[in-house]
Amino acid sequence: MKRNLTKDAIKVLIGNRRKGYTLPTNNKLYPAQWNWDSVFIALGYSYFNFDYALTEINTLLNGQWKDGMVPHILFHDKNTNYYPNHTAWNCGNKIRSSGITQPPILASIFKKILYQNKLTNKQNKQAKKIIEKILKYHLWFIKYRDPKKTGLISILHPWESGYDNSPIWDEPMKKVKIEKNLKYKRGDNKVIDPEFRPLDVDYDRYVSIKNHLKKQKYNPKIIYKTSMFNVVDIGFNSIFLKANKDLLELLKKYNLNLSKIDKFIKKSENQIMKLYDFKTKSFFSKDVKNKKKINIPSITNFFVLYADIKNEKFNRQIIKDLKKYNKGIKYIFSSIKPNHKSFEEKRYWRGPVWINCNWFIYQGLKSKDKLFSKIIKKKTINLIKKTGFNEYYSCKNGKPFGANNFSWSAALYLDLIND
Ligand code: DGY
Repeated sequence: MKRNLTKDAIKVLIGNRRKGYTLPTNNKLYPAQWNWDSVFIALGYSYFNFDYALTEINTLLNGQWKDGMVPHILFHDKNTNYYPNHTAWNCGNKIRSSGITQPPILASIFKKILYQNKLTNKQNKQAKKIIEKILKYHLWFIKYRDPKKTGLISILHPWESGYDNSPIWDEPMKKVKIEKNLKYKRGDNKVIDPEFRPLDVDYDRYVSIKNHLKKQKYNPKIIYKTSMFNVVDIGFNSIFLKANKDLLELLKKYNLNLSKIDKFIKKSENQIMKLYDFKTKSFFSKDVKNKKKINIPSITNFFVLYADIKNEKFNRQIIKDLKKYNKGIKYIFSSIKPNHKSFEEKRYWRGPVWINCNWFIYQGLKSKDKLFSKIIKKKTINLIKKTGFNEYYSCKNGKPFGANNFSWSAALYLDLIND
């Protein structure tokens, strides 16, 4: 019998739904609400239950800190084996949370949801409140993550990127001193085969950075200067630039103050282009802490296409590079270029294919290379058809790794087939 994937996708999302929020998967790997997972999930809900979409976003924003930050994890359920849990972070505003953030995709996805739906007056009022909170979130980034007003924002922990153990962080992470007598127990590699997960040495460093941030009481002014990790990443900045552009439109529509966002966009657009070297045809992120360039062939660099930079020559070159990135590879896009020395077929963000990365690239290409964008969409849908809604996949044979019943793969499937 032919499976009905739409029904299956809805089943995954509903199955992972808890009171007002949704887990990234139904096994015990991620027993909380994650920032960017939650936003992708809201997009999925918007195709069959608009209230669920709004609730998911409202719950996420209920965890917003007073200074504007929206945390990367909200711990609604305190009794789980996840590490680091709410006591390990020991922070939060109305909801216990982690003390760092995650890729700010909310503005863009919220705009997509709003433009694809007709809102009642009551929903419109709710939407305005949400947009005000997103504005506060973006101003937090601009104020605290770019205090030198460069037009580019920093992340202070690899977990903020969402691509935790990407080789992009290898060099800056090598410099992170592991705390003496570090005591903690990982939960993730008990649930999922350790060969798919980050290494213990990575975790030692994640926890050391986290402990250091905690000691500074997550004071945003202080940790920018003192964090053991401070990187300006192309992918993260591209997501933020796109989010600012979408937020700007929403601010106009709802008559809200847009001057600070407008100013930042102009600066940011120029600075992001400078992270690409036309001569060597390669991207550079910046290790701000150690004043070094980072040059790793990661699919996340291509998120610049998603940022919709207004420069045709630039975009054309990036698309040309992208077409070479996975030449001869059956299942696209590998998170790291397969011929790079850091590539690992199975390990989390060091090689596997992630549905959300394909989604960013697809969104970015739609207006620039329609044919190519359609190919990517088709290949992404076919990969899901092959083995279902998994966390990540082999670029060599499409085999699934990590968790199954993965919410954002289900949510983005719904978006892709409706887009
Ligand atoms: C995890 O636990 O692996 C998450 O990616 C951290 O945010």
